[in-house]
Amino acid sequence: MAGKVTKWVQPDPKRQNWYWPTDALRERAWVSDAKVYEQAAADPPSFWAQRAEEIVWFKKWTKAYEEEPYAFRWFVGGKLNLSYNSLDRHVEAGKGGKVALIWEPEPPDEPNRIFTYKELLDEVARFAGALKALGVRKGDRVGIYLPMIPEAVIAMQAVVRIGAVHTVVFSAFSPEALRDRLLDCGAKILITADGYFRRGKLIPLKPQADQALAGTQVQKVIVVRRAGNEIPLTPGRDVWYHEVLRGQSPVCQPEEMDAEDLAFILYTSGTTGKPKGAMHTTGGYAVQVYATCKWDFNLHDDDVHWCTADVGWITGHSYLNYGPLMNGVATVVFEGTPDFPDFGRMWAVIAKHRVTVYYTAPTAIRMHVKWGEEWPKKYDLSSLRVLGTVGEPINEEAWLWYFEHIGGGRCPIIDTWWQTETGATCVQALPGIGPFIPTVAGRPFPGIQAKIVDAGGTPVKTGEGGYLVLEPPFPPALLRGLYGDPEKYKGTYFAEFGPKLYFTRDGARMDEMGNIRITGRVDDVMNVAGHRLATAEVEDALSQHPLVSEVAVVSKPDEVKGEVPVAFVLLKKGVQPSPDLQKELIKTVDQHIGPTARPAAIYFAEDVPKTRSGKIMRRVLKALVRGDPLGDISTLRNPESVEELKAVVGYKG
Ligand code: PRX
Repeated sequence: MAGKVTKWVQPDPKRQNWYWPTDALRERAWVSDAKVYEQAAADPPSFWAQRAEEIVWFKKWTKAYEEEPYAFRWFVGGKLNLSYNSLDRHVEAGKGGKVALIWEPEPPDEPNRIFTYKELLDEVARFAGALKALGVRKGDRVGIYLPMIPEAVIAMQAVVRIGAVHTVVFSAFSPEALRDRLLDCGAKILITADGYFRRGKLIPLKPQADQALAGTQVQKVIVVRRAGNEIPLTPGRDVWYHEVLRGQSPVCQPEEMDAEDLAFILYTSGTTGKPKGAMHTTGGYAVQVYATCKWDFNLHDDDVHWCTADVGWITGHSYLNYGPLMNGVATVVFEGTPDFPDFGRMWAVIAKHRVTVYYTAPTAIRMHVKWGEEWPKKYDLSSLRVLGTVGEPINEEAWLWYFEHIGGGRCPIIDTWWQTETGATCVQALPGIGPFIPTVAGRPFPGIQAKIVDAGGTPVKTGEGGYLVLEPPFPPALLRGLYGDPEKYKGTYFAEFGPKLYFTRDGARMDEMGNIRITGRVDDVMNVAGHRLATAEVEDALSQHPLVSEVAVVSKPDEVKGEVPVAFVLLKKGVQPSPDLQKELIKTVDQHIGPTARPAAIYFAEDVPKTRSGKIMRRVLKALVRGDPLGDISTLRNPESVEELKAVVGYKG
């Protein structure tokens, strides 16, 4: 991009904090005319069919979209393969020598591993062959519990190549969390690693996997050698990744998948204690991920795309693996953390690999704001073109800091709103169109119908707060179900407003141009450092401690993490609270979910506010920890509990 533009054109003085694309951005953009929104809205299925034409189909669809209550289908009758679209098509187009994957390992002095498209395809094909040899067939579920190493991408690609279904589980999740997911989806195979590195320390992973396997249907465990730590292998069950690859051919025909065949299941937090398996199918997912990755970040052949999300989250699935690879660019896989060996680590990686697109979470940006701009200043960040954020609302301070100190005032910030359920981004500004407004995500992507409604499903007035819903034709990548629980699918997303409106469970408001500002979840789901977590999950974990009688968890705002869980614990009769017990409770959470779910505070209480029917009033607890007005508490069964808790939490409301 030519020249550095620090001052952007702001045509409307009333919109002083609106930023618009520079000429350089417009010139490079795939779309720079806002007419695209109207054109797509006039006929969304045709719009998506045009996008679908850009990927490769073994057989073309007969109908772009069809729908009935609680079920919709995209690209009916079409046949394709995600791995073919990620790898083979580029090799066949003569781009086999282009860099596909750059691995930046945690010990910063360890050499990078770099794969060209041809090398990645060969490795994926060999592993796909190995999986077949181990008996994996189309439709079988395969668990993946891997750190951020190239094999995580290779494993996902190999699984979808043969038509099997992956379920990736975040490597920092506990054995119990892994077991729940393996059991729920009935996985036959688990792919894991011996260990990995974090902040200079070796973290064993295989022993965690071993603990998770008891009682599951897993018959084979494939272990990648990453850290070289000693691990026990169970004969007959465990095999080394490098050994199963031996002798495999670098050619493995991709399975012809129906557009509506299941591609993967990804578990996410709902309002209950039990995570639910979002089901994503092949065609719609491929098309929306491909098209949004291309337009959101304006991807061209020479781009180096770095999405910092772990592969265990949907962002890692869509914008670290499938999106960039389907677009034929280089994707960065980073094993490390932003603060090791120092606070400049991310900026050093950008400078080293000449990263052009950087996609991260507001919580990470807030951390960098705290560490100070002297860290990015030390590095040459001039390769960056587009910055992205995802996962939670971004505050203005973080937005402006990111814009100025990382983007140098030249890079648009693409604030993408979406969910595990939507599979791909749905609301965002486009780099060639804008506007880019701090704290405002933007317009729904062309071809996506979103509106803000009140509790009765009626659209609210411009600028008023309400619930964000998606309308038919539903986004191509939207989940088709919850694994094994069709009723829960209906109940979670379509109970409030019926089958014609998908309820996102987010609050939002929209301006007169159609730009949407997300205000946050309206249910008991938290965003903790960009990780989605239900308060019920943390309650469920804590209540498993033998000394706990009752527990209530609410979220509290946090300067860096966005939100953190706070727990109120009632102990069994005769049990005395103590700092040791507090530590034990934290351990219980680690054991059942993982350290990401640790409460920021555990308050021991004699009682918690309850309704007359005995339901815990989490609204009052939330107000107590936030210092908000408590509202009417006269209808409580035990209003005196509130007085006691005021002292416990230091309430100054
Ligand atoms: O509340 C919204 C928030 O994250 C939720 C989805 O979380 P998860 O399924 O883990 O997926 C995160 C990555 C796609 C949403 O319901 N959220 C996501 N992106 C944004 C956001 N909130 C505000 N602005 C965003 N850009």
